Amino acid sequence: MQLNNNKILITGGGTGIGLGLAERFLQEGNDVIIIGRRNETLEAAKAKHPQLIIHACDIENESGRIDLFHWIQEQHPDTNVLINNAGIQNWMDVSDIDFYERAKQELAINIEAPLHLISLFLKAETLTTIMNVSSGLSYVPLAKVPVYSATKSFIRSFTTSIQKTLGNTIEVIEIIPPALNTDLGGVGLHDSYPPVSEFITSIFEQLKEGKNKLTFGMSDMMAKASSTDLENVFNRMNP
Ligand SMILES: NC(=O)c1ccc[n+]([C@@H]2O[C@H](COP(=O)([O-])OP(=O)(O)OC[C@H]3O[C@@H](n4cnc5c(N)ncnc54)[C@H](OP(=O)(O)O)[C@@H]3O)[C@@H](O)[C@H]2O)c1
Repeated sequence: MQLNNNKILITGGGTGIGLGLAERFLQEGNDVIIIGRRNETLEAAKAKHPQLIIHACDIENESGRIDLFHWIQEQHPDTNVLINNAGIQNWMDVSDIDFYERAKQELAINIEAPLHLISLFLKAETLTTIMNVSSGLSYVPLAKVPVYSATKSFIRSFTTSIQKTLGNTIEVIEIIPPALNTDLGGVGLHDSYPPVSEFITSIFEQLKEGKNKLTFGMSDMMAKASSTDLENVFNRMNP
């Protein structure tokens, strides 16, 4: 991927990994648009980096995604990179009373939104690059986040397919983070994991090398592991 002179839309770019990507892409000489539901987190990011373009919206439902696409077409028709980063992680059990409702929301944000946005943005003639954010949990599920883990396996599989089918016309890159210190799933749950900054440094080294499946730490280990290794990881993660 050419790392400068792009106009990049990052879903969920106001916090965590999305904000880390936004900051680094700004440094590399790109225009960066970040979106999310909470205007205050977007405004806080813009206060730190005034060059950021911010837009509050919710991509859980079809109408929100279509509105976002129309806004991009009207305000930023030269957008050429779509980064599907927004996601939620629900800690739950299949026997919970509200399991199905929460699962539906997770499926809508983690799966339907990237699929729908890709489908919409492929209509824009400017699109050159799609990046999808999966997870190390796509290789081995964490049983306490059963639907989340499955959504990330879906994104891995789907991204691998479109890397093949979109071929040379659109570059498709999969970002595969391991557990990192963000507020994903709730404040404090990820505090013991590596900082986003180390991950972003590694991701950009891999982008410069032309890689299209970007791993780090534990996700790198899992990407290379045998099925026996993965079974052992599963048993360690789910005692
Ligand atoms: N941190 C990890 O350990 C880890 C590991 C592997 C993969 N990942 C993946 O990395 C991505 C980013 O997560 P993160 O760790 O950086 O957590 P995060 O800080 O919670 O980021 C998630 C972002 O998505 C946005 N978002 C959620 N629902 C949305 C919706 N309906 N519409 C628009 N924006 C929405 C959130 O903003 P609002 O709440 O304001 O909408 C937030 O900015 C996710 O796809 C996650 O699954 C994270």
